[in-house]
Amino acid sequence: MLTMNSNPFDLTGKTALVTGASRGLGLGFAKTLARAGANIAITSRDVTSLEGPAAELKALGAEVQKIELNVRDPNSIHTAVADVISHYGRIDILMNNAGCNVRKPALDVEWEDWNQVLDTNLRGAFFVAQQVAKHMAKEKYGRIINIGSVTCVAGYAGLGPYGASRGGTKQLTMSLAHDWGKHGITVNCLAPGWFKTAQNKVMYEQEGWVDYLCERIPLGRPGSPGDLEGALLLLASDASAYITGQTLLVDGGISVGAVRATLEQ
Ligand SMILES: NC(=O)c1ccc[n+]([C@@H]2O[C@H](COP(=O)([O-])OP(=O)(O)OC[C@H]3O[C@@H](n4cnc5c(N)ncnc54)[C@H](OP(=O)(O)O)[C@@H]3O)[C@@H](O)[C@H]2O)c1
Repeated sequence: MLTMNSNPFDLTGKTALVTGASRGLGLGFAKTLARAGANIAITSRDVTSLEGPAAELKALGAEVQKIELNVRDPNSIHTAVADVISHYGRIDILMNNAGCNVRKPALDVEWEDWNQVLDTNLRGAFFVAQQVAKHMAKEKYGRIINIGSVTCVAGYAGLGPYGASRGGTKQLTMSLAHDWGKHGITVNCLAPGWFKTAQNKVMYEQEGWVDYLCERIPLGRPGSPGDLEGALLLLASDASAYITGQTLLVDGGISVGAVRATLEQ
């Protein structure tokens, strides 16, 4: 029950695991959760790359644990989650962010491209969530946020395996919400539109592409990391106690299908 003075977005005393937080959106998510009061566990395949991010998070007042994790390796998932539990005792929030992309015309996609993208984005996310949910279920509390994308709901040329993985993320989110609701765990999907990071900078560096993109985004610009903060805090906090199985698009409106249908605009 909320009182007039309580802040439902406050994460003081909570522990959050953010996968793939060495850079990009994952690091931004970890900072948002730290600013809201959570203690943080961050992961990378190369734990040395977490030195800088950990220092930034500590400067925000958070306790920080650095964890090695490769979501394509079940033993690594098992060990990483066990390490967080042995350090903090519990995981209240999972930001299931680790992911990758292979950008190719569908005719050029190779067997291993498909495996890399689907193993990481879909199988990896599922088994991380499963491992974490075993602990959340004991506490009868959890917030799982799967990273999605505008490709959860739209098809883009050059993103066949990626789009298939994100369509799967949306579906997986609904199934897990149903499975784990009885344990007090909500499962939602945060689906960003276009945000400039290492994963897509090759596109931003192509002349004319940003103008092409902005023309198709109703709000007229790509996303910047701060644009994801409100949605993350909603899904990570008690403010979303009765929201589960949902995919929340934070995309400047690009997913609405932004083609002009009159000549006047
Ligand atoms: N940028 C966008 O516009 C956008 C839009 C929608 C969704 N997304 C999604 O948001 C997430 C973050 O993307 P980003 O743009 O910030 O990309 P990024 O800068 O390339 O970061 C990807 C993160 O995922 C981690 N990662 C990759 N493969 C992994 C594996 N096998 N095991 C564990 N961790 C792995 C990387 O960790 P290490 O390399 O340090 O191990 C890195 O921290 C991804 O899931 C991406 O698909 C991005």
